[in-house]
Amino acid sequence: MAPLFVSERIAAPQPIASMPGVHQWPINRIAEEARSLAALGIRSVLLFGIPAHKDAEGSGAYPPDGVVQRAVREIKNALPELVVMTDVCLCEYTDHGHCGLINGLAGPKDPRLPEGYVLNDRTLEILGRTAVSQAEAGADVVAPSGMLDGMVAAIRRDLDAGGFHSLPILSYSVKYASGFYGPFRDAAEGAPRFGDRSTHQMDPSNVREAMREHALDVEEGADGLMVKPALAYLDVIRATRDRFPDLPLAAYNVSGEYSMVKAAAANGWVDERRVALEILTGIRRAGADLIITYHARDAATWLAE
Ligand code: PBG
Repeated sequence: MAPLFVSERIAAPQPIASMPGVHQWPINRIAEEARSLAALGIRSVLLFGIPAHKDAEGSGAYPPDGVVQRAVREIKNALPELVVMTDVCLCEYTDHGHCGLINGLAGPKDPRLPEGYVLNDRTLEILGRTAVSQAEAGADVVAPSGMLDGMVAAIRRDLDAGGFHSLPILSYSVKYASGFYGPFRDAAEGAPRFGDRSTHQMDPSNVREAMREHALDVEEGADGLMVKPALAYLDVIRATRDRFPDLPLAAYNVSGEYSMVKAAAANGWVDERRVALEILTGIRRAGADLIITYHARDAATWLAE
């Protein structure tokens, strides 16, 4: 699965300096990019949107003519067979870069919580609304990535209420607080302006908690699970595969994992093709059914040669 960045702020494809070979795309060029990936045999894409305007509420995430909603329509009109998955999170849409509403910055302050904390339950309402609007635009799968408590249940409830009973949720069920997301935060323009995500993303040293996180999402109705990042977490992928054999498992080979290979290859220190295919094979061997990777285009090209 190839991640795609679509931006309302640009008129021409914009290279992302920290991710050589990856671009932000304007909405009117996104179908063309999707078509060229599909021509290589790639059957699915994951969409991230960068809105023209950001605010404390992330209100660009859910309008029917929002950046992702328009991009989904463009792609599905051109390529009805291509599976389009949409990221459901607020960090690309909030001006502070956090994945949810922040106490003290959006609406009435919750006196029980410190200022600066993510307001979990009020954020769930917005995530549900966002998922429904993406479904209405034609998304085939929604993928909540914010690690908020109860996000899968809230989105399932709202999708069902909106008539999307069969639309699958692939949850970023296990997402570690990782240094490997660095380049993505440039690509999606979603770096937190203060603080970090360590109150809701997971501690890299903990694997048993990962199994509990998956189990909670399964209970809430997740149709597929994810482990993210992939490379430093191959044991977590394997443990998940063994513990949840009946659910599809995705692994996210994240931006930092990609950029490290690109940087080393650009210096002539490693053979990019060999190393990238070795990494993807390792993720597959660990038990992933689906790999979300910025190497999708390269890998599809190499494998066709
Ligand atoms: C949050 C989100 C992130 C990534 C995917 N979804 C960033 C984060 O949690 O900080 C990172 C993906 C990557 O590094 O490639 N919407």
